[in-house]
Amino acid sequence: MRLLKHYEKNRALPLSKLHIMTLLSGEQQTYNYYKNVGAFFTDPLARRLYAEIGEVEEEHVTFYGSLLDPTETMLERQVLHELMEVYNYLHCVQQETDERIRGIWDQFLHMELTHLQLWADMMRKYEGRDPAELFGGTLTVEFKFTENKEYIRRTLERQRDVRELPIPLDGGPNWVMKDDLPKDWPSYRYQHVANADGVPSEEIVDRQRREAQRTERPGNELLERARELAVQFRGATDEKR
Ligand SMILES: [Fe+2]
Ligand SMILES: [Fe+2]
Repeated sequence: MRLLKHYEKNRALPLSKLHIMTLLSGEQQTYNYYKNVGAFFTDPLARRLYAEIGEVEEEHVTFYGSLLDPTETMLERQVLHELMEVYNYLHCVQQETDERIRGIWDQFLHMELTHLQLWADMMRKYEGRDPAELFGGTLTVEFKFTENKEYIRRTLERQRDVRELPIPLDGGPNWVMKDDLPKDWPSYRYQHVANADGVPSEEIVDRQRREAQRTERPGNELLERARELAVQFRGATDEKR
């Protein structure tokens, strides 16, 4: 379990808090998704894969959650959370090019504005504080949703083998490349136990590789299935006409 140094609520930029909460919400959502949906698969390998990913997501939730200042009051946290939702939907409304989808963002934005107002009232009532003191006068930023696949690929490439050290080795940095980890790295012991019956994600990759070799073409079963379904679906809608 990795924990980070939390921000200090009176010194951190309000925007940084919103960005952390955005990240955390994304992680929470993937965590809930894998944990909820995983059990419904009939294929045991799929269930094990989702359990494996769910566990990784749990770590992400704890990791980013540890950035929040634990001395924030419940109401303070809630007001910031609603503000974060307003902030995100506002940018969605402003930047969405599809008119129909923009209508959905707009509806969400208004719901969140109401949440924010209601929780702000609670804060005034029960803490006798003005919620505006949480974010001050400025809360603007140059922000744009853009294509980020290249950025993600580059970051993955550079970061995938970096491992964080709870205690730096010989006063060095608090990270090390995977190949330079000490032999008695505690995670190895954990992996030894957790992966005793194999690693579902690696089994899936193997299975796909074998499939690609068998059919002598890159691509995968899932893609094939999706194509078949699309053809069936088209057939069904054509019949209706
Ligand atoms: Fe994650
Ligand atoms: Fe909300």
